[in-house]
Amino acid sequence: MKQKILVTGGAGYIGSHTSVKLIEAGYDVVIIDNLSNSDVKMIDGIEKITGVKPEFYEFDLCDIHKTKDFFSKNTDIKAIIHFAAYKAVGESVNLPLKYYHNNIASLVNIIQNMINFKVENLVFSSSCTVYGQPEPKYLPVTEDAPVQPAGSPYGNTKQISEEIIRDTIISNKNLKTIALRYFNPIGAHKSAIIGELPIGTPNNLIPFLTQTVAGLRDELSVFGNDYNTPDGSAIRDYIDVNDLAEAHVIAIERLINDKNKKNFEYFNLGTGNGNSVLDVINTFEKATGKKVNYKIVPRREGDIEQVWADTSFANTELGWKAKTSLGESLLSAWNWEKKVRGL
Ligand code: NAD
Ligand code: UD1
Repeated sequence: MKQKILVTGGAGYIGSHTSVKLIEAGYDVVIIDNLSNSDVKMIDGIEKITGVKPEFYEFDLCDIHKTKDFFSKNTDIKAIIHFAAYKAVGESVNLPLKYYHNNIASLVNIIQNMINFKVENLVFSSSCTVYGQPEPKYLPVTEDAPVQPAGSPYGNTKQISEEIIRDTIISNKNLKTIALRYFNPIGAHKSAIIGELPIGTPNNLIPFLTQTVAGLRDELSVFGNDYNTPDGSAIRDYIDVNDLAEAHVIAIERLINDKNKKNFEYFNLGTGNGNSVLDVINTFEKATGKKVNYKIVPRREGDIEQVWADTSFANTELGWKAKTSLGESLLSAWNWEKKVRGL
């Protein structure tokens, strides 16, 4: 019998790509999503790619009654991947309670039901934001680098969530969690059937870039060229969403098969390479043959200068490594944008 995995936020960007990989790996996938930042078409997309329609429940995971009702009717959940959260850093500064409520209440609700209904395995979506701007001696950043005070309420929800999990595990010894700290996820499924579909004006670099090239935006603003980096623009570790999705399948197998070494483990998921904003623009132009209209503007408030991952722990312990090049990821993001815009 197939093992059933609950994917919260499975209609979203990373959740939909992970659902595809889980189904391809032979799992039954059940998705809960309130569609607050996604479209139900993504569920159809998962079916188109895999030939299997995941079970889908549309409700808010902060709703205690609906969540309890779900768990009482689905007693065969083997593991949960908890993606559901709000993620817009800038918005979280203006609306902190919206973020604290959604990201924390949904997690607490999920864990309470895991305890009540004896579901033991959790994979949690964390972020490299927990490291803030690491001191130069900590770059590339390993899992041992100090967690820094959060730069935004969003970032703080990730730190608090990890603490909630850590604290809960002490008195609930059957509960096992792997927190995956993503660097900058980009790209789309190679079929261009699913991809990143931000609602409104994108905050993130890649959707803004592809929308600019598609003609929806006049120009891309490069936030700062006066950083202490080789070309002056900020450096990040851009990780392909399909590679990221594969790491979730490995994390699930690790938990289900009791291969975890501690009840709370955490891993950096990146490529191990840092690329500047200008590198991204140049690589996009080479990979797609399209020109990016951009201008340099002042730094964005709250941005850090540079961060990229040391992925050795994930490479050795999970046996996972990012495979996709930056150019391939950017090409898949462009193919997705073209498909969405009918170009
Ligand atoms: P996304 O917004 O595309 O997906 C999140 C999904 O969760 C959406 O479909 C949304 O409708 C749903 N959701 C939100 N709150 C909900 C609730 N209370 N009940 C039910 N559904 C709810 O975001 P994503 O990029 O796929 O991110 C997934 C996870 O990864 C998030 O936890 C995010 O914080 C984390 N993360 C993302 C990035 C990134 O750059 N994309 C980086 C680091 C960490
Ligand atoms: C941020 C968060 C990260 C969060 C992610 C999801 C921090 C330090 N990081 O990542 O935790 O998970 O958002 O939303 O808070 N850029 C431009 N022009 C643009 C957009 C971006 O030049 O129009 C630059 C930024 O200055 C940055 C890089 O591109 O250097 C990537 O930005 P973005 O995609 O927004 O991600 P982060 O800020 O790295």
